[in-house]
Amino acid sequence: MSLAAAALIALSSACGHVPPETVPSAGDPPPTSEAHRIPAPDLTPRVDGGYAWNLPPGFAPPLVPRHNPMSEAKVELGRRLFFDPAVSGDGSLSCAGCHRPERAFTDGHAQAVGATGQQHPRSSMALINVAYSPSYTWVGDELLQLEDQIRIPLFNEDPIEMGLAGREREMLDRLKADPRYPPLFRAAFAERGARAAEPDVDEVIDALAAYVRSLISAESPYDRRVFADEAGALSPAAERGMELFFSVELACGTCHGGIAFAGPLRSTRSPDTEPQLEHNGLLADAAARFKVPTLRNIALTGPYMHDGRLATLDDVLDHYASGGVPGEGRSEQIRGFSLDEGQRRDLLAFLESLTDDNLATDPRFANPFADGMIGG
Ligand code: HEC
Ligand code: HEC
Repeated sequence: MSLAAAALIALSSACGHVPPETVPSAGDPPPTSEAHRIPAPDLTPRVDGGYAWNLPPGFAPPLVPRHNPMSEAKVELGRRLFFDPAVSGDGSLSCAGCHRPERAFTDGHAQAVGATGQQHPRSSMALINVAYSPSYTWVGDELLQLEDQIRIPLFNEDPIEMGLAGREREMLDRLKADPRYPPLFRAAFAERGARAAEPDVDEVIDALAAYVRSLISAESPYDRRVFADEAGALSPAAERGMELFFSVELACGTCHGGIAFAGPLRSTRSPDTEPQLEHNGLLADAAARFKVPTLRNIALTGPYMHDGRLATLDDVLDHYASGGVPGEGRSEQIRGFSLDEGQRRDLLAFLESLTDDNLATDPRFANPFADGMIGG
């Protein structure tokens, strides 16, 4: 790791966003010492099934729930389910319909649209490196593991996303009728023996979670510059933009910190990280606190913010430079600043250097339906 990388990681730790290193044993009980603590989900650093994480430099293995160890077979099954519209109630919309690899698993809409055309109040989220999130969705700090989050798009009725509520049997029958699935379920849930031939909804969810956990990638020009010491990987403009990003005045890195350029991360290195929401001055409401999203691949994921109200990264910089709308409750780092045209170009060049150009073509993540059966 280069000095620059060490400095960036040190910076994010100094801001309290990377908890001290502790490595738990698999049998550690959830922490109970402080009454205010949200109960820790049953996560463990197990990497069973011979699963190889293939982690970028600086990334620790993510935590995995005890009941749902990783395996190649499960990730492969989850990948098919993720891209298969058969998983929705009426067979019309896959997870990938709202989370497209070429857009870092977002959908390009300001607000997502469900299987029946209902609009979601919020924007689809980028899924790269979400294995490290201590909580899920823009708004809450209560969904602590992927298996719980994934139930929401499947069963949500207001708005309807995949419309599975009441249609579980239909969905499972569709999967059973597809000759590709029964062997995949048997391989993924081999420990269940003969029962694995009758897939159930929990297995669908567990396989989807394993695939989503496998979406770990950091192969941007920024990574080549910082972790592989490739001097020319960042343009001089992006190098200047990096300094602005981490400067005291702009303070972007204090919230969008660490290896994911996001809020605090949970991993085998920091298993007790608690969810944290921040107020970035977008809304006057003091309660408008949101998960700090990753800025990796940010050039691919517009429109921006939880409700997609900002169309471009230029608009995002206008927002932060202005200090946001008047109102109470914003986090103290949101103070406004001024940028001249050159600095603005530099900062945009840095944000663009966080794009991992391999996402769209990475065969580990790609749509496995070569016959083009994907819809939605
Ligand atoms: C209708 C579009 C839509 C579909 C279909 C959809 N999602 Fe999402 N996804 C969203 C939206 C919108 C959010 C943000 C939700 C919120 O803040 O309440 C989200 C959030 C997420 C998150 C949380 C990410 C984070 O950083 O907190 C995960 C994980 C996720 N989706 C996975 C999935 C999986 C797996 C499926 C298939 C079972 C799926 N989604 C189907 C629109 C969709
Ligand atoms: C106080 C913490 C904080 C600071 C400082 C901060 N952000 Fe954010 N950022 C957030 C939060 C929270 C959101 C999500 C808000 C929402 O969706 O309404 C966000 C969202 C974003 C988004 C949109 C991401 C997406 O997926 O739609 C971008 C881009 C962004 N910030 C860039 C920056 C830049 C550049 C800076 C420095 C000028 C910065 N942020 C400073 C907390 C912060």
